Amino acid sequence: MAAPGDVPDEPGQPPGLTALSFAEQSQDKKAKEQIITPFDVSGGVDEQGKAVAIDYNKLIDKFGSQRIDAALLERFEKVTGHRPHRLMRRGFVFSHRDLNIILDKYEKGIPFFLYTGRGPSSDSMHVGHSIPFEFTKFLQDAFNVPLIIMLTDDEKFFHSQKLTLKECKQFALQNALDIIAIGFDVKKTFIFADTDFIYGGDGRAFSEVIMEMGKKTTNNQIKGTFGFNDSNNILEFAFPAIQSATSFAKSFPFIFGKDAKKVAKIPCLIPCAIDQDPYFRQCRDYAPRLGLVKPAIIHTVFLPSLRGAESKMSASDPDSTILLSDTDKQIQKKIGKAFSGGQDTQELHRQLGGRTAVDIPFQYLSFFLEDDARLEEIKNAYEKGEMQSGEMKMTATKELQAYVAAFRERRKTTTPEVRDEFMRPRQLTFTGMPSEKDQ
Ligand code: TRP
Repeated sequence: MAAPGDVPDEPGQPPGLTALSFAEQSQDKKAKEQIITPFDVSGGVDEQGKAVAIDYNKLIDKFGSQRIDAALLERFEKVTGHRPHRLMRRGFVFSHRDLNIILDKYEKGIPFFLYTGRGPSSDSMHVGHSIPFEFTKFLQDAFNVPLIIMLTDDEKFFHSQKLTLKECKQFALQNALDIIAIGFDVKKTFIFADTDFIYGGDGRAFSEVIMEMGKKTTNNQIKGTFGFNDSNNILEFAFPAIQSATSFAKSFPFIFGKDAKKVAKIPCLIPCAIDQDPYFRQCRDYAPRLGLVKPAIIHTVFLPSLRGAESKMSASDPDSTILLSDTDKQIQKKIGKAFSGGQDTQELHRQLGGRTAVDIPFQYLSFFLEDDARLEEIKNAYEKGEMQSGEMKMTATKELQAYVAAFRERRKTTTPEVRDEFMRPRQLTFTGMPSEKDQ
């Protein structure tokens, strides 16, 4: 286990064990490269046609992003006065674009805003979804900056074969309640659902950014970035301009004021899972052409499926992960069935030790257990065969039960009235941005 502040060499490994649906089903047994887009996440297959883990290092090279290293984490701590979040310490927040520039500016007293989002494709969120949001909340607390959360109910409708617009809108409202329960500060957070905000009424400035962005975007570029072809519908082609528009303070005059020159300079930092990078990579290409600052990005890995390296987490497979709505009993049952890196018999396990690199209960602990020293202890005991897989599962069960119970408690207070306030276009409370003087 890496020392605090020391980032593991293999970013997100073993969580990188997340694997694939498409590749798995493939009839063609030739090796296939990994594909990571907002619509297709697969680590690829080897020559034997076997699913392989996502290689996050390769992604950094392929996407041309920067690795988050120990020096950057140290700098983060110096600038914010906050110890890096456990997901940063353990390499699960592993890559970025321009985070150093955000830190430079922040140090000079030039603040920024945070932007993240969710595509509401079901009414239940799972612990894998809560990870980027928990990390975003940490960033909001560490930097004390405004946050905008976009719920892309339009995107889910454009891309789905079966969801109705009405369902997508309902999921957005339902998911907003769960997202708020992660613990965001209402004074500093604006949440919107696309269908209501953009197409509804308050998003005029936002729509203008979409128009400017859309006018610069060619079909060729969209095809290249997202792998679309002529069978994709025209709104799928249009959507990247919509997701991009949230990256600019200019889209939210009620938050950042109307002084065009000043607002154009307010930087944005986007925490997101790595699959969202194509949207923002493209957005960054267009930003200077619109006279706007490129958004900075910070990437997280995916939480692995409970089923282990051979499968992908999926909303339609309730046993593939833990839902935020699961009871203690359900959590215990699911972790009990999770893929184990233990040996076949207790005797063998004592001899050979457990394999933490593939042990899903251990993986979940490394995402959710805060205490570095305790995690290290568990890892050592398991690998030495002193801890059996049953105990590992029990430990992970308790930790996840506590995580979900804490969420459940907070969720009790997120009523529709609370949500209305989060989703009301309004000024947010923060210091140092032009809006203070300009509104
Ligand atoms: N497209 C994302 C999804 O399907 C939702 C989203 C919109 C998002 N804006 C974002 C996610 C910014 C992360 C950061 O889930």
